[in-house]
Amino acid sequence: MCSIKYLLWVIVLFKQAFAVSWDADAESACIINRGSPTYPNPSVLNGYTYQLLTNQLTRPRNIVFDTNGNVLVSGDSDGIFVLKTSEAADGCVIYDGKTLLENSSGLKLNHGLALSKDGRTLFASSPDVVYSWKYDPVKATIDNSSRRKIVTGMDSGGHITRTLLTSNLHSDVLLVSRGSDGNLDMEAKDLSKGKCMIKAFSVSKTKEQDFTTQGNLLGWGLRNSVGLGEDSYGGIWAVENSADDLMREGIDIHQNNPAEELNFLGDLGETAFSEDFTAPNYGYPYCFAAWYPKDIKAATYDIKVGDQFALVMNNTFTDLTCRDMFQAPRLGFQAHMAPLDIKFHPQTGHAWISFHGSWDRETPIGYMVSVVEFKGGEPKEPRNSNNSITNILWNSNITGCPQKCFRPVGIAFDRMGRTWVTSDSTGEIFIITPPHSSSSDLPPANRTWDISSNVSKKRSAAVSFAHSDVSLTRITVRVAITCILLLGVWGALF
Ligand SMILES: *[C@@H]1O[C@H](CO)[C@@H](O)[C@H](O)[C@H]1NC(C)=O
Ligand SMILES: *[C@@H]1O[C@H](CO)[C@@H](O)[C@H](O)[C@H]1NC(C)=O
Ligand SMILES: *[C@@H]1O[C@H](CO)[C@@H](O)[C@H](O)[C@H]1NC(C)=O
Ligand SMILES: *[C@@H]1O[C@H](CO)[C@@H](O)[C@H](O)[C@H]1NC(C)=O
Ligand SMILES: *[C@@H]1O[C@H](CO)[C@@H](O)[C@H](O)[C@H]1NC(C)=O
Ligand SMILES: *[C@@H]1O[C@H](CO)[C@@H](O)[C@H](O)[C@H]1NC(C)=O
Ligand SMILES: *[C@@H]1O[C@H](CO)[C@@H](O)[C@H](O)[C@H]1NC(C)=O
Repeated sequence: MCSIKYLLWVIVLFKQAFAVSWDADAESACIINRGSPTYPNPSVLNGYTYQLLTNQLTRPRNIVFDTNGNVLVSGDSDGIFVLKTSEAADGCVIYDGKTLLENSSGLKLNHGLALSKDGRTLFASSPDVVYSWKYDPVKATIDNSSRRKIVTGMDSGGHITRTLLTSNLHSDVLLVSRGSDGNLDMEAKDLSKGKCMIKAFSVSKTKEQDFTTQGNLLGWGLRNSVGLGEDSYGGIWAVENSADDLMREGIDIHQNNPAEELNFLGDLGETAFSEDFTAPNYGYPYCFAAWYPKDIKAATYDIKVGDQFALVMNNTFTDLTCRDMFQAPRLGFQAHMAPLDIKFHPQTGHAWISFHGSWDRETPIGYMVSVVEFKGGEPKEPRNSNNSITNILWNSNITGCPQKCFRPVGIAFDRMGRTWVTSDSTGEIFIITPPHSSSSDLPPANRTWDISSNVSKKRSAAVSFAHSDVSLTRITVRVAITCILLLGVWGALF
């Protein structure tokens, strides 16, 4: 044994010294539960294992599998890459390099990536435009002459991802999420500005559609819902990146408030395709959800975790207004964890969420891949829970974050039930293998939660506040200053 180990070390050192290609003879070289040598190995939940597929990518963000099992990744400024991978006998995946679908650096694609249900149309987004191409899953190529603009008119600064989601149940629908320009974007109050909302677009329309004036609204008052997912019943869920540096009643509450959010946006059949649907407003920029209610002083009702409070109160607008007129999240998460994706595991029905990690907090938080368990179409935990996540993969030493940490972004599941996760800052993809038992934990055949009772009641109430000028100048000034101070880190945030 010892001499074999020794021999392996010699080979490893030899290869490092002479930079010989790793891939050529890597058939069985799957190293379990070890990350990149540049930071401490991530920890993984008991029973799960992970492998580092590669750390050779540039800023990988979203990840999707095509119908033939090819892996597509967004985020590189050159365009969308297809990864060449192969399965080794021991359940290990080998990375064989990447090919560029087309050099689309001129299009400024930065995050959004989706495939149509039939796998033959590719969607990707820049801050301004959603494009589509004809895609061939057999060759893993696009027909570059087929490029079309599907949605336009989204250009704005600040949060510049335009997350895309296609539906398993409604093949003609493309969901697009557009966030705020900056921390507190007062234009979000005005429905006609087309900010801070999630909309559904028909992809069969031949003309390009304007984000602000066209499409069907699913929800607004959503600061920056970077992650979108569809559960096994067709319910749409979004994870919300809530505000930074909040002051409330003159008190700095930003260490532990507001909560990041898990929001339910209903079933497309009852929203995008329903004549009499009026989209709820989720509160931004008036109302925010509490994570640590003790810090919300002078509350006008007994605020619990996940309940909404008013940022600025007056005689006619209080915390009660936020509770009664706006849609609260289904779950809250610790402030500043920055959830960037939510995808539902096809076998378990549970939501996998990537938490990119904090910058606006003394003690770093997040930097992990977690699961929210679902049952009957909703989370198992009640809406006031502060304990709804189970961490699967996390950084073992968070004090070095964000420099010495992986920062998870995109999530996708392969046919074996394994979870693939990108890390943009480290150029990595991890593959997480669940314990064998978890695939038998199938979701029930039908949703047991009566969604209509709770989600669609907070309808257009918020519209009545939409056009009034609020004296938020004080906050805006503070935010402007903060933004200038933080300009240096913006790049890491979107
Ligand atoms: C894509 O095009 C840009 C601009 O022309 C260039 O800088 C970049 O190297 C190209 N990338 C690849 C992978 O060809
Ligand atoms: C399409 O691809 C071909 C072959 O790679 C290339 O020559 C051509 O410039 C591309 N066209 C566009 C519009 O990018
Ligand atoms: C009270 O606050 C609400 C929401 O911020 C605002 O729409 C309204 O104009 C304010 N009323 C007064 C009198 O300032
Ligand atoms: C969650 O709430 C419980 C009870 O209210 C409290 O003791 C605990 O500190 C909270 N946990 C977090 C992480 O805030
Ligand atoms: C954690 O990381 C910090 C900063 O990188 C380092 O100073 C500290 O020694 C590490 N702690 C452990 C237990 O490795
Ligand atoms: C599920 O819902 C369908 C349609 O509403 C119904 O026909 C079926 O009996 C339900 N199945 C179960 C297991 O409840
Ligand atoms: C749903 O609405 C009922 C009645 O308004 C309320 O008691 C319950 O807490 C709500 N549940 C959720 C999950 O919002």
